[in-house]
Formats: sequence, C-alpha cells, structure tokens
Amino acid sequence: MAIREILRMGHPLLRQPARELTEDEIAAPKLRVLVDDMVETLADAGGIGLAAPQIGVSLRLAIIRIPGGPSRYGEIEAVPLTVYVNPEIEVIDAAEQGFWEGCLSVPGLRGFVKRPRAIRVRWRDLEGIEHKAEHAGFLATVFQHEFDHLDGRLYVDRLEDSTKLMFEEEFARFGDSAAAVD
Ligand code: NI
Repeated sequence: MAIREILRMGHPLLRQPARELTEDEIAAPKLRVLVDDMVETLADAGGIGLAAPQIGVSLRLAIIRIPGGPSRYGEIEAVPLTVYVNPEIEVIDAAEQGFWEGCLSVPGLRGFVKRPRAIRVRWRDLEGIEHKAEHAGFLATVFQHEFDHLDGRLYVDRLEDSTKLMFEEEFARFGDSAAAVD
C-alpha cells in the first residue's frame, strides 16, 4: 500500500470525465492494490471520500467512509468504508438543500453549495455485485460531491454565490453567519 499524491484544482486530470471499469478490470487484482492505496491516502488526508481521479486515475471509482455521529448538520448516519465501482446517481427529490463543502483537491477552502436533497445510488462492489442505496440530507451531498469528480466537476463549479467561498479559518469565524443568510 502507498499514500498517493492528491491532485489539486488546476490539474487537468481533475477536469476529465473518467471512464467506466470493464468486467476484466473489476476482477483484476490490480484494482485491489489501487483501492488499498485510495483507502490509505484517504485515511492520511483525513477526508470522508476520495475519487480515483483525485489520485490521477481516470476511472469511475470512489471510496466513502463517514464516521457518523453528531455534527453541525445534526446527527449524521455512519457509512462504513465502501468501494463504489461505476456508480450512478438518480435524483429522487430534486428540492435543493445547501451545505458547506470542502474537498481534498481544493485544500483550505469551504464553499456553500446547493444540491438535490435525496438520491438513489447504484454501484458495483469489488466482487462485481450490484448494490443500491438511498440517501438524503448531508449524505446525499457527500455522494453527489464524490461522484461529480468522476465527471470532471468540482464543488466550486456549483457555487451560486462566490461570497460563500471561504478559507477554513475565516469559515470557522464567519461561516455560520453566512449560512444563516439562506
Ligand atoms: Ni472532492
């Protein structure tokens, strides 16, 4: 296993739509090595999700691990470490909700982004088995953020109000009052 470099905004690979993994690629031992590297890289960086393009691999693959528990958004449901191969999102409630998002590829910043509030996710696991799950609230945002990476999108593309893009220190001082405007 190895900690990989996380590409930062400005690297062209982050803007490139990633391609789906083939059946052969899903079955290959090489994919386990890549996922192990992603898990180690995510743990080292201290995030809740990482998409393969963020470490320079343009494949539709992401991992998410959310500890859960109380947060500024209320009680968050935990998501154990899960590998999402070729994930697809379907919006099941298009009403928008906003959260302050951060991204390992946009370090040091937070931005307020509105997204549909409930989604259904379909994906394959490392055994090739299909799964689906529905998520609402903060989790719906996490999945949409992560899978946006697979389409070459970053959360900053979805900012409606550029005054709600802040450095983390300023966010800690002023972010709540900014959020209260909505
Ligand atoms: Ni991100």
